[in-house]
Amino acid sequence: MNILILGAGGREHTFAWKIAQSPLCNQLFVAPGNSGTSSIATNLNVSVVNFEGIKKQVLAHDINMVVVGPEDPLVNGIYDFFLNDPELHQVAVIGPQKAAAQLEGSKEFAKKFLWRHGIPTAAYESFTKDTLDKGYAFLESVNSPYVLKADGLAAGKGVLILTDINEAKQELKSMLVDSKFGAASTKVVIEEFLDGIELSCFVLTDGKNYKLLPTAKDYKRIGEGDTGLNTGGMGAISPVPFVDSALLTKIENRIVKPTVDGLVKDNLPYKGFIFIGLIVVENEPMVIEYNVRMGDPETEVVLPRLKTDLLEIFQAIDNECLNEIEIEIDPQTAVTVMLVSGGYPEAYDKEKEITGLENVKESIVFHAGATKADGKLVTNGGRVLTVTSLGDDFRSALESSYKSIENIKFEAMNYRTDIGFDL
Ligand code: AMP
Ligand code: GLY
Repeated sequence: MNILILGAGGREHTFAWKIAQSPLCNQLFVAPGNSGTSSIATNLNVSVVNFEGIKKQVLAHDINMVVVGPEDPLVNGIYDFFLNDPELHQVAVIGPQKAAAQLEGSKEFAKKFLWRHGIPTAAYESFTKDTLDKGYAFLESVNSPYVLKADGLAAGKGVLILTDINEAKQELKSMLVDSKFGAASTKVVIEEFLDGIELSCFVLTDGKNYKLLPTAKDYKRIGEGDTGLNTGGMGAISPVPFVDSALLTKIENRIVKPTVDGLVKDNLPYKGFIFIGLIVVENEPMVIEYNVRMGDPETEVVLPRLKTDLLEIFQAIDNECLNEIEIEIDPQTAVTVMLVSGGYPEAYDKEKEITGLENVKESIVFHAGATKADGKLVTNGGRVLTVTSLGDDFRSALESSYKSIENIKFEAMNYRTDIGFDL
């Protein structure tokens, strides 16, 4: 098969790394890709939301399957675009249809889905600028802290958690009336605050059958001890050590099964990854969000533990026979530590030369915001590289990653030295 992966980050480099190992893979393309994907695949210079441009490449390279990395093309309906185009409808797309992608594209849609199917989640109400006064009254009626969520896609920045009621009202107004997050905050979901420990669970579905992938935990804050601004993710660990089989059974029975059954009942066609953000409150798992794709950097710890051929799994998803596949997972722990540009997640410089990767022996380095310029490897984004290692437990895996990192250098390189500190 000829495969096209859409995206340009560490997640997509990891997909390319895994798919390139499959005997089913003939030619592998990534659009737009990065320096990591260019060493194992052909990068195509087309944006992930330029559907007509993607169509040209798919036809030109006889592509049989498109694996979608980020949420934007899914929420914008890339699955439906392929389905409805006579020249493309034979091409398999790994991802949900547009209607199902609303699970990530609209917080209100996701909350309604969760409540309709009796899946544990925080209580909520949603408001628009016409119901701002009702929003204020609702804030008065609940306890601090206040959780405000922009309904639409806001690049991971649309959730505010505030302790002061006046600040919460101010922010609600700024989201609804002053379009703080643009069109994404035309509607705002106000949610009950849940106090617990977070983890993520990953599921593959063909729309009726599902398979569980390993759990993972990411570290979103820039600073040590989970302090400072939110980032795309500074590191991750899989499996999550505190998830025992009793908790996993609850997650599967109360959350995963009803989610997949809910997709069937609501007629929401879905052939791809479901990323379920969970919070465990007094040993009870509750959903904080759905994403309709894999996480980044969670992919960088989940896929290295998957022993099964990923293309075989994707074919089974496309043929709606995922139940016939056995999924084999490496019992080792995988960790990844993200190397970022100094200043990230605020302003940072680019085009800093990266050296030393050839000296990394016991880890896999996935490229994120890195590119080649004049034959040199240089930084090209906030999250630059991520260093994944396997080990018998997360401590020994982390030791390998941190040892590998000693070899890698670029100006103003920054990373967290405390991934896993809370476990
Ligand atoms: P989300 O984009 O929905 O994942 O929210 C971003 C982050 O906000 C989550 O990873 C949680 O840390 C936090 N969060 C979201 N919803 C809640 C909630 N109801 N209670 C407590 N924390 C929350
Ligand atoms: N690491 C979180 C995400 O991919 O959304």
